Amino acid sequence: MDTAILGLSLMSAILKGPYLQCPTTSSVTVMWETVEEERGEVVWFETQSIHAGLSGSARTVESTKRCVTEDGAKRIHRLEITGLQPDLEYHYEVQGQRHPLFAAPAPQRPFCFCVTSETGGYGDDDINQRLFAEMAHWRPDMLLVVGDAVSDGRKYEDWERFFFGPGRQLLHSTPFYLCPGNHEENADWFYRFTAFPHPGNYYGFDFGNVHFTALDSTRLVDYIDGQPQATAELKDDSGQRSFLRQDLAAAAAADWRIAFFHYPPYVSCDFEVPEMRSLVPDMEAGGVDLVFNSHTIVYERSHPLRGGRFQQDGILYVVAGGAGAKPEWFRPKRAGHTAQSRAVPHFVHVTVAGTTLEARAVDVDGRVFDMWVLRK
Ligand SMILES: [Fe+2]
Repeated sequence: MDTAILGLSLMSAILKGPYLQCPTTSSVTVMWETVEEERGEVVWFETQSIHAGLSGSARTVESTKRCVTEDGAKRIHRLEITGLQPDLEYHYEVQGQRHPLFAAPAPQRPFCFCVTSETGGYGDDDINQRLFAEMAHWRPDMLLVVGDAVSDGRKYEDWERFFFGPGRQLLHSTPFYLCPGNHEENADWFYRFTAFPHPGNYYGFDFGNVHFTALDSTRLVDYIDGQPQATAELKDDSGQRSFLRQDLAAAAAADWRIAFFHYPPYVSCDFEVPEMRSLVPDMEAGGVDLVFNSHTIVYERSHPLRGGRFQQDGILYVVAGGAGAKPEWFRPKRAGHTAQSRAVPHFVHVTVAGTTLEARAVDVDGRVFDMWVLRK
C-alpha cells in the first residue's frame, strides 16, 4: 500500500481528486477518494500572488489557516470549506497536496466556464487528456459536463478511466457540474462521486449573475427498442417538471438562465430526442436564455427559437457533444433550426460579463470554429 505521512496520521494514497463541488460565494466542497477508509482532513488558507518568474507563486497568509476533519473514516471524502470571500485567492491542502481555491464569483463579477460531455470513450484513446488540457488553457472558473462522462456508470473503473483520470489537473481547482446521461446509468457511483443538492440528478445553482438548472433527461425519456419514448416523469405534474418551474421562478433576480440536460430537443442529427420539446413551454415561460445538450456527438448551435420556430429573442439550443465526433450522424441537410454545426472533438467556452454573454466553440487543438454573442 502506498502511504504518505500527514502530521501524525498515516494516510493511504489518493485515487481520485482532490476535486471541488458546489461552490457558493462563501463555501466550496472538497472531495477525494483514498485507497483505505480514513478520516479526511482539509487545510485551507488565504494566499497572495507574488511575482516569481514565469510560473508565479503564492504567499500563505498564515493567520488565515483553517482546518476541517471528518467525523468518521471513509474512502470517498466530502468536506465543506466555509467562510470564504469571493474576491480573495485561497489554496487548500489534502495530504500535503496544495491547489488554488476560489469561491464562486459575486453577481457583478464577470466569469467564464467551459462546457463539454461525451468523455465516455467515443474519441481516440488520448482525446480526453487533450480535451482537458486544452480547456485548462482557457482557465475556466467552472465546468459543465452534459452527460455521458463515462461509458458505463455502473463500472467503478470507468469513472477514473474516462473522467477523473484525464481531468485530474483541471478538476483540482475547477468545480464541475455533471448532469446524467444515459451512460451514467443512474448508477450509485454518480451520486457517491458528486455532491449536488438533493435529489442530485437534477438541481439548480447560482454562479455569478447566472442561474443554472441541471435536469436528468434520462428520467424523462426512455429508450425502448432503440426508440425514445416519454416516461411518466415527463408529464406536466411530475416532481422534476415542478422543480423546473419552481427553480426558474426562484431565479428571477439572475441576469441569465441556462439549462443543461443530456437529450437534445433540437439537433439535425441522429439521436435528436423530440420528446424533450415538452419542456420548451416551461423553459420559455421561465425565461431560459440558453440550453446545453449532448447525446449526439457533434457541435450544433440552433437559431434562437420560440416554440420551435426562429424568433430573434428565442432560446438558443447548443449541442456540445464534446469529446468525440460522429460526422456520419449528420442528416444530409441542416434543419430549419440549425445555425451552425460541426463534428469535431470540442468544448464550448463561455464568458459572462453583465448583460453580455460571449461564447466560442473550440476544437481539441485550440482552434475556434464558432463564436456567438448574446446581449440583454
Ligand atoms: Fe447519450
